[in-house]
Amino acid sequence: MSPGQSRLRSEPCTLVIFGATGHLSRTKLLPALYELERAGRIPERLAIVGFGRRPWDDGRWREQVAGCVRAHDPKVDEALLERFLGRLRYFQGDLRDEASVGQLAQFLHEDPGCPENVVFYMAIRPADFGASIKSLGAAGLLAESHGWRRVVIEKPFGYDLLSAQILQQALHKYLDESQIYRIDHYLGKGTVQNILVFRFANLLLEPLWNRNYIDHVQITHSETQGVEGRADYYEGAGALRDMIQSHLLQMLTLVAMEPPSLMDAESLRDEKVKVLKSIRPIPQNAVHAHAFRAQYTRGTVDGQPVPGYLEEEGVDPHSTTETYAALKLYIDNWRWRGVPFYLRTGKRMAESSSAICIRFKHPPQHLFRNTPLERLRPNWLLLGIQPKESLRLELQVKVPGLEMRTRTISLDASYRRADEPAFGAYEDLLLDVFLGDRSLFLRYDEVEWAWRVVDPVIKVWSTERDFINTYPAGSWGPRGTYRLFDSEDQFWRHSLDIAGGELEPY
Ligand code: BG6
Repeated sequence: MSPGQSRLRSEPCTLVIFGATGHLSRTKLLPALYELERAGRIPERLAIVGFGRRPWDDGRWREQVAGCVRAHDPKVDEALLERFLGRLRYFQGDLRDEASVGQLAQFLHEDPGCPENVVFYMAIRPADFGASIKSLGAAGLLAESHGWRRVVIEKPFGYDLLSAQILQQALHKYLDESQIYRIDHYLGKGTVQNILVFRFANLLLEPLWNRNYIDHVQITHSETQGVEGRADYYEGAGALRDMIQSHLLQMLTLVAMEPPSLMDAESLRDEKVKVLKSIRPIPQNAVHAHAFRAQYTRGTVDGQPVPGYLEEEGVDPHSTTETYAALKLYIDNWRWRGVPFYLRTGKRMAESSSAICIRFKHPPQHLFRNTPLERLRPNWLLLGIQPKESLRLELQVKVPGLEMRTRTISLDASYRRADEPAFGAYEDLLLDVFLGDRSLFLRYDEVEWAWRVVDPVIKVWSTERDFINTYPAGSWGPRGTYRLFDSEDQFWRHSLDIAGGELEPY
């Protein structure tokens, strides 16, 4: 939901999930739909059709879904679960088979339990998006003659600029831009949405939110997980495409954008695109000064030994796919010129966390010269996205006593009250799809400009296949990444906590 809007009731519809028995559907979509049922926010007449190749029937599919829901909520309310399962139908088919797509069209048309508005959710391999839309289009399933049609496409949209352009052309043969929902689930996360409210609903921050006061911005996503059986996808993607081109650049746009004139989908997305367009292109000969990649080797995560990336099932033993990527970007506009934005992400890191850390400059005057306060710590504004949603501002105060000493304190503005429910990103975004609100979905030009940002790096890395830096699993990544920093007093902020009142550079 765009922050300016309140929610209406959604119309009856049928949700068809392609790849219904896959990882995304089991771990994210079905639990999110169940949560919407629990919150009473699901469209009253919603039919959920699971489309998959396995030879299942409705009963078997419902059993599987009941298992996913119980794993997600061990204290599930059985009556609620029954109601939810009652919405489910299973359709065995293969998207590559014309006859089977034709049968799906007939089923949707004739089954009285399936409302005529349809959402198609592509929870399938990204490489199959284009061909799948073609078969749906050829079977007439995307035409809006009876009710509307919406298509949800997961990331990555293409694997570089050119392939994204080709995919877009393929989609546009059968779909209008208004029917396409390119999902980036980070835009459904509470703190990510809060960036807009925090920035634009408070007067205090805006005067400071620019190159005069901000030294640099860091956006980090780290996770302790490895590739988790997704090697076939990850080998061709790597950390830069998997996280930076999409989720991290989206967060950057929200931090850096100008206030939109209205909080509607187009005004919001116009401003985000302007940021992406203003990012200084990285010349190919400067890629090493702006980007760093590495791969995890064996190590220990949460006290358990874990294999290195090259030992994971399905990974080529000579692979140079990066599991860690860091990028330095500059936004050449009046607000941000000269302020580095450091983005980094990694798998099998020391902790699972995502955060935006904004470091302010040092005060201009050295009032405390020749006192123990010679090296005052700068202010930080810390936006925790996960595991906990938080907002913190670090300030310097005098330690009580006779000496002139300071301590860093943090103003902690955790904004969720204990009685307020926490929803996941997919709940919010699925609801938007049912309502037809595209504010938090990516417009094609956003995707294209995001590819333009990372494309030079992808090109250079794809030619360097003999060597990749490494880091032990369970660590904070390779040390070489420090060469990206512009000055010696910049360092990665790994934790949002103030360790013992002090913060040590790493
Ligand atoms: C996905 C990536 O888009 O985001 C995964 O493909 C990554 O590799 C995941 O693990 C992280 O999402 P979240 O919501 O768990 O932080």
